[in-house]
Amino acid sequence: MLPTEDAIVAGDELRRRFGPRYWQFTLTATDANRFAIRLARHITGRPKILVHNHNYHGSVDETFAWLGPDGAVVKRRGNIGAPVEPSETTRVVEFNDLDAFERELAHGDVAAALMEPALTNVGIVLPEPGYHEGVRELTRRHGTLLINDETHTICAGPGGYTGAHGLVPDMLTIGKTIGGGIPVGAYGFTEEVGDRIHASIEREDSDVGGIGGTLAGNALTLAAVRATLTEVLTDEAFARMIPLGARWEAGVAGVLRDHDVPWHVTRLGARAEYHFMPDPPRNGSEQWANGDPDLERFLHLWAMNRGVLMTPFHNMALMSPATTEADVDRHTAVFAEAVEVLFG
Ligand SMILES: Cc1ncc(COP(=O)(O)O)c(C=O)c1O
Repeated sequence: MLPTEDAIVAGDELRRRFGPRYWQFTLTATDANRFAIRLARHITGRPKILVHNHNYHGSVDETFAWLGPDGAVVKRRGNIGAPVEPSETTRVVEFNDLDAFERELAHGDVAAALMEPALTNVGIVLPEPGYHEGVRELTRRHGTLLINDETHTICAGPGGYTGAHGLVPDMLTIGKTIGGGIPVGAYGFTEEVGDRIHASIEREDSDVGGIGGTLAGNALTLAAVRATLTEVLTDEAFARMIPLGARWEAGVAGVLRDHDVPWHVTRLGARAEYHFMPDPPRNGSEQWANGDPDLERFLHLWAMNRGVLMTPFHNMALMSPATTEADVDRHTAVFAEAVEVLFG
């Protein structure tokens, strides 16, 4: 409610990196997704959204949906207090499955497809060649807005996966890292989407329409975003972080090769992770089926007891602007010891 000049700098910087013309700030990435979805439903007049199986986009009711064994949309494991059955609000497809994507959009009731450009929350699942081109063509053809959630995939570069690969979504959501520890989210949208929003919302209603929040865009948050984007998470920082990610990947791959371990390591810019399977997963279900919570817990504890703190779920590491080559090599050494114990 009380904008500062930092909002201009932060908005300009997000536009430079990710593309969309207009930006709104929120307090979390969850809220950025909620607000983007509400606006998408409003301007398209359609009730549903489409997400990928095993997605995570924050605590957004419509996204807490998975495919059941028979392909029907069901509540995801852990979903509590769902207001309605997720099948009423949501269509779900596997990542990298363009046929399913087309089949679900053909119903004509999908306001927006909300997607991470590469899955990260179930484990890293990379898009196959042509997947994004197909998604963009299908969403345009069926009048569905495309929302890229870059909250995690910003690890691919200063403009996230979208910037690194020249993607052109209608809306883009982000949060977390851009505040450097201060709670923040943001969503951007194209000029065309902006015109549609403008034409369909009375100015007097804009703060009660479900896309507000008293403290959204507050001075502290925007100062943090400005400082983070212009001084910490800079192009130069990515130029250091991504090679560190490659070093981490090469270290893990070398250990797996030396010990003949049937695991795979995948990298997405400055983020990398190993999977308990010989080939990279094609979709969330493949990754989920090869998870092993006990083995993960062992590996986390093994690393933690030797001074390396992994993310507290699956086997993912993210290089930060403060990470050094010595940190990466320390992980490789600790990982090698664990593999030695497990595989001899
Ligand atoms: C892709 C993605 N989007 C949105 C969110 C929600 O972020 P927050 O918890 O900051 O609302 C998350 C959280 O992990 C996420 O991984």
